[in-house]
Amino acid sequence: MNPVITAIKEKVKDILPEVVSIRRHLHQHPELSFQETETSAFLRRILDQHQIEYRDNLVGTGFVAEITGGQPGPVRAFRAELDALPIEEMTELPYKSMNLGIMHACGHDVHSACLLGACLVLNEMKAEIKGRLLFVFQPGEEKLPGGASLMLADNVFGAVLPVSIVAQHVFPELKAGEVGICAGLYMASSDEIYISIKGKGGHAAMPHNCIDPIVLASEVVLALQQIISRHGNPIIPSVLTIGKIESTGGATNVIPDEVKMEGTFRTMDEAWREKAHSHIISTVEHICLAKGATAEVKLVRGYPCLINEGNLTAAVKDKMVDFMGIDKVHDIPKRMTSEDFAFFAQQIPACFFRLGVSDQDGKWKHGVHSPHFQVDETALEVGVGLMVWLAL
Ligand code: NI
Repeated sequence: MNPVITAIKEKVKDILPEVVSIRRHLHQHPELSFQETETSAFLRRILDQHQIEYRDNLVGTGFVAEITGGQPGPVRAFRAELDALPIEEMTELPYKSMNLGIMHACGHDVHSACLLGACLVLNEMKAEIKGRLLFVFQPGEEKLPGGASLMLADNVFGAVLPVSIVAQHVFPELKAGEVGICAGLYMASSDEIYISIKGKGGHAAMPHNCIDPIVLASEVVLALQQIISRHGNPIIPSVLTIGKIESTGGATNVIPDEVKMEGTFRTMDEAWREKAHSHIISTVEHICLAKGATAEVKLVRGYPCLINEGNLTAAVKDKMVDFMGIDKVHDIPKRMTSEDFAFFAQQIPACFFRLGVSDQDGKWKHGVHSPHFQVDETALEVGVGLMVWLAL
């Protein structure tokens, strides 16, 4: 085996208990998006103890740690997220969340602990580092507009953009000790849809005296599906889901005045994304106009499509194979979830890969964002080691 890899694996073994305890502390004290004050302070205290420099107060709780190597080279960046989700944890872990109704159910505790661990290891290996390494700890990945876009708007990298940015994300579909990677388009854009249909309420037995927003809403839900099936190019992945319908009032014998709906539109093509938005608006408006109702459609732009840059991703995959062996490195398919890391990827060659966290017998089959979500902590060894190896 490559002697550098052997050395990294030894250093990571030494530091692993500390990384696990950092992760457990974060898990026990989760904070919501853009409110990660304690999380940020806790991690920065550890940087202080090791005299690692950082810039803080970036979009509130965000910070960027920096290590300058002993050899000349480019600026390269790595990223982790700080925030947790508004979920009440249902696990029986001894380090279960102490903050009521908040849980690290998306593994951001793992990402932050691993990136900080990598930072600590690399700080001891400065002489071997080429160029400057930036470790971006970002707030608010789980909430629009997303901490990544705000950090970029805040000019987080200054005058010199990094030549690459890499992030890892927990992945319960793979076992701890394995990783997954996908070059090119990997994740979808994601936009929120808010629709309000105002009709005219009245007695359910006299619909001819009313404008029934429930019937119109039903028509709208089905018509929106035709935007995907009839307007969208079938070879471009697209999803439109209405996840919530609510009438203001109404009963068995009452037609309500208004129906509100919420949903999501996701795709993997930015041009089609724009077109689909205007189809959504005109479909809703015209259906309602034809029946004398009024419609309001609000589309809230979320994250763009996430593209893993080809050359960087190929290089990362090669390094993964060197580090863990080809049987632990999986090619994984595209998915329709979204990530605000995509904003970084729009400006910098980027690679977002997956860290397996399932236990070996597949006992925990709960996905991210589940109140039962758990990780096999042996994954942290790979999570730290791989980041160090990629940085070197
Ligand atoms: Ni996440």
